[in-house]
Amino acid sequence: MLLRLLVPSFARVLLWASAAQSAECGSIGSRATLPATQIFKYPDDTFLENLHVLPSGHVLLTTFKSGNLTSINPGVTNPTPQHVVTLDGATGLSGITEIPSTAGTLYAVTGGIHTGFSFQYGSLSVYVVLIVQLNGKPCGLLVNKIPYPDTAMMNGLAAIPNNPTLVLSADSLGGRVLRINILTRQVDVAFSDPALGNGGNPTMPLGINGLKIKGNYLYFTNSGRGTYARVQIDNFGNKVGPVQVLATLPGSAPASMTYAYDDFDFDRCGNAHISLHDYDVVRVTASGAQSLIAGGLGASPLFESPTAVAASRDGNSIFVATGGNYTATPPTGGQVLKVNLSLPSKC
Ligand SMILES: *[C@@H]1O[C@H](CO)[C@@H](O)[C@H](O)[C@H]1NC(C)=O
Ligand SMILES: *[C@@H]1O[C@H](CO)[C@@H](O)[C@H](O)[C@H]1NC(C)=O
Ligand SMILES: *[C@@H]1O[C@H](CO)[C@@H](O)[C@H](O)[C@H]1NC(C)=O
Repeated sequence: MLLRLLVPSFARVLLWASAAQSAECGSIGSRATLPATQIFKYPDDTFLENLHVLPSGHVLLTTFKSGNLTSINPGVTNPTPQHVVTLDGATGLSGITEIPSTAGTLYAVTGGIHTGFSFQYGSLSVYVVLIVQLNGKPCGLLVNKIPYPDTAMMNGLAAIPNNPTLVLSADSLGGRVLRINILTRQVDVAFSDPALGNGGNPTMPLGINGLKIKGNYLYFTNSGRGTYARVQIDNFGNKVGPVQVLATLPGSAPASMTYAYDDFDFDRCGNAHISLHDYDVVRVTASGAQSLIAGGLGASPLFESPTAVAASRDGNSIFVATGGNYTATPPTGGQVLKVNLSLPSKC
């Protein structure tokens, strides 16, 4: 409702159409985008992969630069990244999830030896980290490292809300959902399905990418297929229903490295906000309506390859991570951006 009160920007709509390549006229709606604030941009070529908001409001960051879990405080002006904990054996980190029923103290993070848009086969682990606020910043202690031997990718990560010990990880290259017991250290494949693979896309090797669990459903994006979908699971992460596609890439162009859904998160009203390479964040409502919500070609600040979205603790704002511009010379670094969603008080 509030969005409709904003002055529609015709130019933005045109830019959106071009950003979405051959978007069908009118299919996305003609809303203006929401303003964004850039919290931080890496001065080097650090590719920011994922982020998660801590109870303190500090934001955890994973990058492809090192095995260092990092945080940033969006509540101060010109914040700088702070070291949280070094996850040994990793040169790049990917997914982050909070372990339920631990009052925001226990987190799982995936990482391994990073090689381009993949990891060295067999190098990946789930790291379990205890995080406490100490001297005004998050301080981490590595409490468990669980190797996952037979994969080259662990991407999005999600804890099962009704099961305090199981986390699920997206194997984007194998088209599988991997299951890890953070207590017993047992690992296996929860399920695989053609809907989790990249659909044979010759230019986008990644299939299932972002993961979130809400109710009895596992929600996920699939980069290569250009889908945002959900599947019913039980409390052990087993698939107990068919995959339901909720939205597809807005244009008719096939997914590619510069046109693909990446990771996402839900807001207070249950809308999904999905990062969409190369410049966009789209909203998909519970009924499946999709619109450009932030970023866009020509936006200021420009979102340079959005990789992930994380809702604030109150669900009224989103933080967006970007990879930066790795095709520019010299390559530019990832950003952390914040968008106030201006949600109505009653959803
Ligand atoms: C990772 O953290 C360690 C410990 O603070 C630091 O010595 C190292 O330089 C960091 N590596 C990178 C790439 O930032
Ligand atoms: C990266 O930089 C190139 C050259 O400046 C530009 O054309 C392209 O739009 C940029 N891409 C992103 C994702 O910022
Ligand atoms: C977000 O925007 C709404 C108005 O749309 C405003 O009332 C609210 O204070 C803003 N929140 C923050 C954290 O800036």
